[in-house]
Amino acid sequence: MAIKLNSNYLGDFVSAEELSKIKEEVVAAHNTLKSRSGEGSDFLGWETLPTDYDKEEFARIKVAAEKIKKSCDVFIVVGIGGSYLGARAAIEFVKSPLYNNLKKDTPDIYFAGNTISSSAIKELLSICEGRDVCINVISKSGTTTEPAVAFRILRELLEKKYGVEGSKDRIFITTDRERGTLKAFADERGYETFVVPDDVGGRYSVLTAVGLLPIAVAGIDIDAMMQGALDASNKFTDPDIDNNDCYKYAALRNLLYRKGRGIEILVGYEPSLLLFNEWWKQLYGESEGKDNKGIYPSSVIFSTDLHSLGQYIQEGTRNIFETVISVKDSGCEVIIPEDAANVDGLNFLSGSTLDKVNHTAMCATLLAHNDGGVPNIVLELDDFSAYSFGFAVYFFELACAISGYTLGVNPFNQPGVEAYKKNMFALLGKPGYEDMGEALRARIK
Ligand code: PA5
Repeated sequence: MAIKLNSNYLGDFVSAEELSKIKEEVVAAHNTLKSRSGEGSDFLGWETLPTDYDKEEFARIKVAAEKIKKSCDVFIVVGIGGSYLGARAAIEFVKSPLYNNLKKDTPDIYFAGNTISSSAIKELLSICEGRDVCINVISKSGTTTEPAVAFRILRELLEKKYGVEGSKDRIFITTDRERGTLKAFADERGYETFVVPDDVGGRYSVLTAVGLLPIAVAGIDIDAMMQGALDASNKFTDPDIDNNDCYKYAALRNLLYRKGRGIEILVGYEPSLLLFNEWWKQLYGESEGKDNKGIYPSSVIFSTDLHSLGQYIQEGTRNIFETVISVKDSGCEVIIPEDAANVDGLNFLSGSTLDKVNHTAMCATLLAHNDGGVPNIVLELDDFSAYSFGFAVYFFELACAISGYTLGVNPFNQPGVEAYKKNMFALLGKPGYEDMGEALRARIK
């Protein structure tokens, strides 16, 4: 069991009667998902990925990862949104947020094309000086501006360093199977390509080549990750929330939302959850924030943020609830030393593990936040293994689909993301957007 829901910290915010009433809605959401009759049903490929993934490509990913490990010191993953967050979350979750600083036999991994920042790309170029570089460009559409611009700049670097022919073996493209300019360009140049399946949206794509190649390059066991996802997919099949913690999570967040709790804060007590939180925010934000509805997904790392946002959570506007990821085994043991002088008065903690203190901080905070009027859902996760990562990914993806259908939205589209893109193209003078550009420029003050 890699995730277990603990509902003992909901306080009086959700009654047994309310839970029993929403059961039928969750069963309906389950039937919509399973019968593939709901909105967005063309994008349900993620649901069967743990069994139906492309085995031939999976084997090719492992071979490519080995090749990359041998041929570079710096591996750059170029992508934005769903095209990078999952891989980055996995690397920080399973390895470390300080992955690049660890002693290791795998390349340093950097992420580019997720901003339009000059300093970010300039710094990356200088990091690459004197080092061997490979890149993986990930873009389903192949036309997203941020990664496309970064690819231009990094391709220039590689071609100067290794020549057009020499760069061929250092550039890996993950994109649509057939469509798009990126695929055509990759084929023309002879780059190795991997597929973002048609029926898997960006934010649900971490278990495809999108996530798997960078994750494998980091030396993470992708077989164990897929096994975790498979076990989660087999575990959460019962539509009854009493027997399904994944669906219960979806039900609880909908109930809390209906009671005016429009903000969910995902809480972790380990820095290695920081990027997992970011992945989760995209998953839930893009899936549910539409039709003027949706819970606003937010996140914190405690106890760090207890010293910044703790005050607000304890006593601010009561429109929030928390979902705490409690990890049972951090994977390492640190003992607090005895200090003969007891300068800080903390000798009562001597000999304790840091994990015990961290766990106590969590219990203390749960109680305090409950007392302050904040309902808490606790998700108990076994550890930071690749298996648990895969399990957690599937848990949250499935919960998101059920939650979105319960909320009454299409959890698989993201029409709102286009608005800024069109404006940006128009303002930058992209051919075809001339009239729109003129109208927009008149509005800029
Ligand atoms: O979830 C999504 O669909 C988005 O976040 C995309 O992943 C993001 O916009 C990048 O798109 P693309 O992969 O087409 O470059």
